[in-house]
Amino acid sequence: MANYWKEEYLSKLRSAEEAVREIREGDTVILGHCIAEPKALVDAMVANAQQYHDVEVRHMFSLGGGEYAAPQFKGHLRANPFFVSANVRTSIAEGHGDFTPVFFHEVPKLIREKRIRCDVLMTQVTPPDKNGYCSLGTSVDYTLQALHSARTVIVQVNENLPWTMGNHVHVSEFDYIVEQTEPLYESAPPKIGEIETAIGRYCASLVEDGATLQLGIGAIPDAVVRCLGDRKDLGIHSEMISDGILDLCEKGVITGREKTLDKGEIVVTFLMGTRRLYDFVNHNPVVKVLPVDYVNNPLVIMQQRNMVSINAALKVDLMGQVSAESIGLKQFSGVGGQVDFVRGVAMSENGKAIIAMPSLARKKDGTTVSKIVPYLEEGEAVTTSRNDVDYIVTEYGIARMKGHSLKERAANLIQIAHPDFRDALGQEYERRFHEPWCCGDGGKALELVR
Ligand code: COA
Repeated sequence: MANYWKEEYLSKLRSAEEAVREIREGDTVILGHCIAEPKALVDAMVANAQQYHDVEVRHMFSLGGGEYAAPQFKGHLRANPFFVSANVRTSIAEGHGDFTPVFFHEVPKLIREKRIRCDVLMTQVTPPDKNGYCSLGTSVDYTLQALHSARTVIVQVNENLPWTMGNHVHVSEFDYIVEQTEPLYESAPPKIGEIETAIGRYCASLVEDGATLQLGIGAIPDAVVRCLGDRKDLGIHSEMISDGILDLCEKGVITGREKTLDKGEIVVTFLMGTRRLYDFVNHNPVVKVLPVDYVNNPLVIMQQRNMVSINAALKVDLMGQVSAESIGLKQFSGVGGQVDFVRGVAMSENGKAIIAMPSLARKKDGTTVSKIVPYLEEGEAVTTSRNDVDYIVTEYGIARMKGHSLKERAANLIQIAHPDFRDALGQEYERRFHEPWCCGDGGKALELVR
């Protein structure tokens, strides 16, 4: 059989330096997401920065160097991400570049409708199979739509990228191909201390046999997973997975048998972890990596019965407003998929949307502050609104919000605040509601799940 695609593949081969010269004045360049960010192409673009005029670089979560956001590239390259990762945080806070708030599930639609420009997509792909198809590997999310919408598609073929199921792109869809195999970004499993373990136990107590889970990244989701070893037939329908779930898969706890949609399958839109995770998903028919406008779509999530989502927060005020993306006016991250899941789960039969966080945060100057606060700071973005929020968990317990009045919410939240801050929060309760706050027994309004 003739391998037509091979000729095409060879005709599109370029060096990274040649390929990035295709970026034009005023272009918007979207980078493949997270682990699929094409390091060799980004490095070549940054090296060529002085040749560009007015080029914008966009992405969601990024583990790369983020050099394109640096002030010295003013007028040439600037960052305008959908999520502020550590690599671009300082530049953006100092006014170099910009930030675009957007629900993760809406990004492909906005690209399709040209409300988010995508002139150039640069991403990693696997080497082609015998028919000329490649896998997008660790990130399908908006990357697939960007590939379909971009004027110019530049791919970095990396042999280390796992082949994941549920997505494929043909060599004919690329404009330029750069072969460069290099190690994938890895994010080491987080350290789980006593506080995370306590939070993990409370969250896990809300997970019944047969539940389907969405887990974010970090110590708390991993701590939850460690407490689920005795559950049966759990399922995964999650924006992302990391190494945390691998032990549960090996133990046979995650079967997906009770899932209402995509039965038996682990469905995600991206993944981020260590080589152990990338090897696990490689050609694994159980794991499907699908576009984010499916995975994170609240209308899809709602169809999973017993859906449980677990996400983090920077702080929660006494009404239950969740701040998860800015500290004051400083953009710290982004909404990501938090609200996609909170809303989808709210419509799921027996669904439970959990926001989990330690009761205290340690600031840079070494002082500790309560993450349960009377008010959000001036300029702080509300990520999950008080109308959307359901369960809040700290190491001191679980506070329910849905169906509860403002007084009940405040009382429940004070009960799970750090003991050193409960009196001050109690005084705020009394000032606000003109009635005594009963510490200890929680007062008449208290309703903790456990
Ligand atoms: N006041 C002041 N500073 C605070 C704070 C508070 N209440 N809470 C946290 N901080 C500081 C911490 O001290 C830490 O500072 P450092 O970077 O100097 O060490 C920093 O903020 C991050 O805190 P941490 O608890 O380590 O956060 P995290 O890395 O676990 O991320 C979120 C937490 C909320 C920012 C993150 O989960 C997020 O961006 N969520 C929104 C997106 C989302 O939920 N996506 C869904 C699924 S993937």
